[in-house]
Amino acid sequence: MHSQITELENAFKEELSQTDTSDGSAIEILRLKYLGKKGLVTDLLKGMGQLSAEEKPTFGKLVNDLKVSVQTAIETAQEIAKKAALARSLESGKIDISLPGEGYHKGSTHPLYDIREEVIDFFYGMGFKVDLGRDIETDWYNFEALNTPKDHPSRDMQDTFYLAEGVMLRTHTSGTQIHYMENHKPPLRMVALGHVFRVDSDATHAPMFQQCEGLVVDENISFAQLKGTLSLFAKKLFGENIKTRFRPSFFPFTEPSAELDVSCVFCGGAGCRRCKGTGWMEIGGCGSVDPAVFANVGIDSEKYTGFAFGFGLDRIAMLRHHIPEISLLTSNDQRFLGQF
Ligand code: PHE
Repeated sequence: MHSQITELENAFKEELSQTDTSDGSAIEILRLKYLGKKGLVTDLLKGMGQLSAEEKPTFGKLVNDLKVSVQTAIETAQEIAKKAALARSLESGKIDISLPGEGYHKGSTHPLYDIREEVIDFFYGMGFKVDLGRDIETDWYNFEALNTPKDHPSRDMQDTFYLAEGVMLRTHTSGTQIHYMENHKPPLRMVALGHVFRVDSDATHAPMFQQCEGLVVDENISFAQLKGTLSLFAKKLFGENIKTRFRPSFFPFTEPSAELDVSCVFCGGAGCRRCKGTGWMEIGGCGSVDPAVFANVGIDSEKYTGFAFGFGLDRIAMLRHHIPEISLLTSNDQRFLGQF
């Protein structure tokens, strides 16, 4: 009987020494094997029934001692396992504060929006009223009242998206001039900003782009004032060093008419690939209001004169930010927009 106890004790010690004490479940298996309801130590206690009355106390004490020592050893091992588990979870949950953060995307305003705001700011400061006009115009506002009758060859300059007979997506913001003069008496100063639409598409032309229109009507308004206003505007957009050039041109609604060029923003005017070697880049059209336009809106051209201009905002944005493709401006591409 005694040897059975010693054997069991040795077997336990042997097994314990081979158990991974950092592994709680391995210790639990060992505990059940020895101390569980059908465990080896429990079995010994159960077997005591067959012993004689004299043997029982000594044997009982020895088995009990064994049970206590097994229990103590198991508890010690469980403590170790618990600590090991804690150490493991601390290790795996460790935060390396030296690692770079996840980063975030900062929102910014669209380059076209910024230019719009600047244009409004500039002209508002000079006493111009701001009008948005409308995207859909009739033939009268988009062409006819602007001195462009149906058979006028200049209609070919702007390929039109027609919505119905005589109704179209506006091809320019100039129709806003007519609406404005129909509803306001001179003296008047206004700028209109908005989308315009043309059947056109390549690297620098899009079927939809934005224009800014300007109109000034008063007594004694001259071409010199137009030049002064737009030269200042160009400086505001491109900086003090920009040079301007008014190149004779034609628009049915202005006479005389001019194209406004600014010195090339890429080469400073020396001539490069972007300005096709000319040193200049076109940003818009302008001119003195044609008396025929005044006649269409009932303004006395003997008393009043005026000037008008129209710029492409997309073109200005492209020049200012060196954007190679106009379509990027409406691409909604985060990689593009994130640069502003
Ligand atoms: N509407 C003309 C265009 O779209 C620009 C312009 C506006 C020219 C006003 C003269 C006066 O090209």
